[in-house]
Amino acid sequence: MNLTKRRFLQALIALPFGLREASAQGLTGDRLNSFTRAMGRFQDLRLCFGSCNYQNHSQDYWKRIAKQKGDLWFWLGDNIYGDTRDVNILDAKYRKQLSSPYSQFKENIEVDGIWDDHDFGEDGANSSYPHKEISQKLHLDFLGVASDSPRRAQKGVYHTREELNGAVKFYFLDTRYFQSEEKGSSNGLLGPQQWNWLENEMAESTAKINVFITPIGMLLNRLFVTEDWAEFPEEKERLLSLVEKYNLSGAFFMSGDKHFGSLIKRGWERNGSKVDYFEFQSSGLTHVAPKTQLKVVKKFYGKRNTIIEKNFGQIDFYREGDHFFMVWSLFSLESHRRLTRVFYLDRDGIWQRP
Ligand SMILES: [Fe+2]
Repeated sequence: MNLTKRRFLQALIALPFGLREASAQGLTGDRLNSFTRAMGRFQDLRLCFGSCNYQNHSQDYWKRIAKQKGDLWFWLGDNIYGDTRDVNILDAKYRKQLSSPYSQFKENIEVDGIWDDHDFGEDGANSSYPHKEISQKLHLDFLGVASDSPRRAQKGVYHTREELNGAVKFYFLDTRYFQSEEKGSSNGLLGPQQWNWLENEMAESTAKINVFITPIGMLLNRLFVTEDWAEFPEEKERLLSLVEKYNLSGAFFMSGDKHFGSLIKRGWERNGSKVDYFEFQSSGLTHVAPKTQLKVVKKFYGKRNTIIEKNFGQIDFYREGDHFFMVWSLFSLESHRRLTRVFYLDRDGIWQRP
């Protein structure tokens, strides 16, 4: 990556804060030295992401996210609120978003993403939504996906993407197109076709870091009205078992949907021993969960792991030989609040918080 003078200066400015956060997380000794060296140069990849964007609300926040000078922007669903069975209305809402300050933002960054219910069609939409194919075309047009992309020829918008010469692999999962009307059934979330594809992609992966992007929450149990993998327990178990079966290195999850941001940790059995899995949830670019839910959310997710303000996420990847570090930052769009976590990838390919 070319370090322009401006970006290099930004890295220097960020350094003291990064180190302060790292020490607050207990990073010490060799690891701290190693991290310091890694922080001494600019990150190898900066990914910014968010979800839940109501196109009628102010879009001024794009200027704030643009300041991060990210390499990538990922939409994690509810990219607009379509909420219609009239495809002309859906199209008009996408066009409204594309004529907002977002159009300027996307000129300077590479964009990718996935959909959730509201942009797929309507609240809680599943495979019974009648305009799946047209909705898929509008979604891919919105993301600027090439006309010859395989995503244009398949059913559903699942896909993978590799960065840093294949060291990082992102799996974008479609939890809408194939979702059954009945919750709980096996294959009811991803569908057989997407499962086959996913297992092949996992089996073939040579990436050091494998990132699963799912609009709805993955690791935790269901939180009152929200949608989660927990409603399809067999599929949740299946995904985690496949991570184990293919011994995927550096696995973690990203999600949106819930209208607050959270850094989530959950213990799980892996190859006979207990490991921690992590999920980075950023949701609510233009609106947040109602105040009446604050208490429950803070209790369920942990006050120190949660920002219940409009927010976006950022993941910085640092590579130093065979070593990988990752810094997660959850930024409020309403205040100066920022939650940070530092991770390093151990020899077994499992993320550890120092
Ligand atoms: Fe939403």
